[in-house]
Amino acid sequence: MAEQPITPPLSEDPTVRLEELRGEAERAIEAAARAEDLEEARVRYLGRKAELTAVLRSIGQLPADRRGPVGKAANAVRVALEARLSERSSALEAAALEARLGGDRIDVTLPGDPPRPTGHLHLVTQTRREIEDVFVGLGFSVVEGPEVELDYYNFTALNMPPAHPARTLHDTFYLSDEIVLRTHTSPMQVRAMEAQAPPIYIVVPGRVYRRDSDATHTPMFHQIEGLAVDEDITLADLQGVLLEFARAVFGPEREIRLRSGYFPFTEPSVEVDVSCFACAGTGALADGRRDPLCKGSGWIEILGAGMVDPNVFGFVEERGYDPERVQGFAFGLGIDRIAMLKYGVPDLRLMFEGDVRFLEQFGAGA
Ligand code: PHE
Repeated sequence: MAEQPITPPLSEDPTVRLEELRGEAERAIEAAARAEDLEEARVRYLGRKAELTAVLRSIGQLPADRRGPVGKAANAVRVALEARLSERSSALEAAALEARLGGDRIDVTLPGDPPRPTGHLHLVTQTRREIEDVFVGLGFSVVEGPEVELDYYNFTALNMPPAHPARTLHDTFYLSDEIVLRTHTSPMQVRAMEAQAPPIYIVVPGRVYRRDSDATHTPMFHQIEGLAVDEDITLADLQGVLLEFARAVFGPEREIRLRSGYFPFTEPSVEVDVSCFACAGTGALADGRRDPLCKGSGWIEILGAGMVDPNVFGFVEERGYDPERVQGFAFGLGIDRIAMLKYGVPDLRLMFEGDVRFLEQFGAGA
């Protein structure tokens, strides 16, 4: 900004010039739109080098009879301009505040942020919990065990010594000669009995691993093991517990049937079927077509079970499992398989691919 030249002390009648200065300064003050403009006007008209300041300083050099009137007039202009400045400054501040408040105002009529989508438990977890709840209701406790397991617990202590032919049915992942990824939850039968004297009533959910992959097999899947050991346990107790389970999970109308089966660690062993819930056990749909779910048989296989083989008790006999005194039943079922049946999932691999379009279809039971 160019500096305003200082007008030499006024000799004649400076009051005319003072009035001019007042008008000029007042217009500049009114025109100031920002605090900076106002400061500029103040420096220019009231600052050290301002013309008015020069007038005030030069009063002493005026003839004695002029000092009074000119001094008075100059002071009046100064006072008036200072008042204008402070007025304008307040007005600008108020306007700035008003603008800030206006900018910050919240429009409560605008729509809010859309709600965040919430997730839910995986279908397998939902099903696991549902099954656990049934057995907890029957007096069983839930325990868990290692997925990386000793060959001893996975096979040997389950009455499958090395070279037992049943071992080949398991498609085992071997980590070393002695360590495997457990192929079923049954190794926890022996571990649990080692840890706790009879009676014992447990269910053991968890991941198991087999070298197998197609629409109904994945290298990792889930089982729940059941084990009940007490005095006077019979196959009828197994039957009653499994009927209760089948009805809780598949509906109160269900029946079960036990077919003879084979597992090295149970004797006798059974395969358990539940009456088909799609065709109510008739094998035919309402339109007369053969029911594809049970393949027209009216029954669906859901698990393997049996009475604990005395040879298994032999591995934990010193823990109080005297085969002459205690009996037990055991069962093992596939959690994923139960979920597939119940919800009509056609391919087991869908469960583990993590495709949200699949997963979000099962949000209700979370
Ligand atoms: N562990 C067996 C399997 O994975 C199932 C089973 C468990 C059978 C307990 C009998 C008793 O096939």
